[in-house]
Amino acid sequence: METLQSCSSDSGVGKTCVLLRFCDSAFSTTFISTIGIDFKIRTIDLEGRKIKLQIWDTAGQERFKTITSSYTAYYRGAMGIMLVYDITSEKSFDNIKNWIRNIEEHASADVERMLIGNKCDMADKRQVGREKSEQLAIEYGIKFMETSAKANINVEEAFTTLAKDIKAKIDKKSGPETAPTVIKPNKNHHEKKVSSFWSKCSLL
Ligand code: GTP
Ligand code: MG
Repeated sequence: METLQSCSSDSGVGKTCVLLRFCDSAFSTTFISTIGIDFKIRTIDLEGRKIKLQIWDTAGQERFKTITSSYTAYYRGAMGIMLVYDITSEKSFDNIKNWIRNIEEHASADVERMLIGNKCDMADKRQVGREKSEQLAIEYGIKFMETSAKANINVEEAFTTLAKDIKAKIDKKSGPETAPTVIKPNKNHHEKKVSSFWSKCSLL
């Protein structure tokens, strides 16, 4: 698994909150913009296997034009990328195309991508219709889900779906009988017995 980078979708769309909801079952209304790059880890059970997800959270305030070569290294290592926009912000949705272009340029060609429309609890402030996003997702051949970190809607499902797709891709490459690449050296003896592999995801 890899790290992902720090050029991300717009600031304030809720990337950090989605990650906190998934990893810590928590939510906060205080907005503290992410600086640089951060990550969290959560292990999930998927089809009888333990999968360790290392999820990178990027800073939306940094525009992709400021990406340096070190950022592109994060991109390259990612197995999955979630592109997050805010359903109450047309602008954040319009920017998704730029992020997709950016991924195509810097990420590995077979990275799993997923489009996330966050803040779906704010129906009265909605600016981006579901159909429009579905259309975009079809155009790029990626999955799409609306989530709410606040109301805990679809967050679990979104990460599980992305992890499943990553796992399927790895299984396909290596054959279902072979264990996917294990990257993390495990010091813990007990954990060593668990068939696990790392999956790196990124929130953009
Ligand atoms: P940067 O780190 O600057 O890129 O922003 P971010 O995308 O990480 O946004 P963050 O998760 O910090 O959330 C920004 C604001 O949106 C915060 O005030 C959150 O409380 C709020 N927020 C995040 N997710 C949701 C959601 O699902 N529903 C609602 N109503 N508010 C949300
Ligand atoms: Mg953040």
